This record gives sequence, structure tokens and C-alpha cells, in this order.
Amino acid sequence: MSLTAGQGGSGAGSSGTPRGFAEHGSAHGGHGTETAPYERLFRGERLAQLEQLFTLYPTKQACLLPALWMIQEARGWISEPAIGEVAEVLGLTPAYVKGVVTFYTMYHTHPVGRHFIQVCTTTPCNICGAEDVVRALLEQTGCRELGATSPDGRFTVIEVECLGACGFATPILVDDDFIENVTPEKIAGILQRYE
Ligand code: FES
Repeated sequence: MSLTAGQGGSGAGSSGTPRGFAEHGSAHGGHGTETAPYERLFRGERLAQLEQLFTLYPTKQACLLPALWMIQEARGWISEPAIGEVAEVLGLTPAYVKGVVTFYTMYHTHPVGRHFIQVCTTTPCNICGAEDVVRALLEQTGCRELGATSPDGRFTVIEVECLGACGFATPILVDDDFIENVTPEKIAGILQRYE
């Protein structure tokens, strides 16, 4: 499908790299850029929390996903310096950490809206109208492009591969809410629930 000018590449499975990110970044300040000096997250109490996690897993490397969650929960997204910090505290290379961050759609590599919407557009959902759902979401959120953030900062919409609900097209994820059988007519009611 071709809904955006900035769309490029393809997805890589239900947990793969998000497809169709706009190339010019978001309303929150640009694609993968920071203007302030990076402030380490893993200090004091946060570092203690991470070290507590180390005791629950056989290796520090096994703490990579939760460590990334801690970064994202605190900062909203995972920047290049954050990748470097995680690599340092876990004894990994930044390239390894970046490979994991960019594999999963749940991790954000640039600032996103307050609500992150993932839409399945894999073939079974596509032939059931997923493109129309994406188009309606882009119009009604104001995002206009996949991967971009709406001017009011509320939403970011991306396409993803199969969400595992092929019999309930079209499924979408809004943050942690899994919503099935979405049609363009239902979009307005769904968006109302998210401020
Ligand atoms: S193809 Fe859309 S949920 Fe499986």
C-alpha cells in the first residue's frame, strides 16, 4: 500500500520494525533528535531498580527488554544516547541494543504522541479493509502521515504486521488496548476515549 510520501521498507512480523514512518519526524521535535544534553537514567533509585532486576535473571543481557522499558516509560522514547547508556550498563554493544530496539514495534525510536496506535495491514486484514481504517485514522487523528504525530500531540499511527487476530479484521492497538473489528465508522468513537 502507499498511503504516505515518507513510507519506506517493510515490516518484519508482528513484533517487527514498524512500517511507514514519516521521514521528517513528529510534532514533538524531530525524528530521533534531542536538543538538551542527555541525562543518564540509571542513577540512584533507577540504578538500584535495575540492579535488583539483575538478581532475577541469569545474565545482565537478559535484562535488556525491561531496561528499555524503563527508559521508554521515563523518557517516552529511546534515543541514541539512551541506547548507549543501556549498552554500557548491561555490558553490550550499542549496535546490539539498537538491533533490539528497532526490531520491536513497542519501542519508539523517536518522540510519539500521548497515544500510540498500531494498525494491522497484513494481507488478511488488508483485503478486509485495513487500508480504509488507516486512512480514517490518519484523517481523524490529524496525523496525516504514518509515523507522524498529530499537531495536538495526542496520537501517532503506524502500520504493523499481523497482530494475531486475523479473524477479527481490522484489529488495532491503542497503547495497551487491543480493539478488534475496527471499521472507519468506528474510529471517531474510539478516538474519543483517548485524551
Ligand atoms: S493479518 Fe491482521 S491480525 Fe493477522
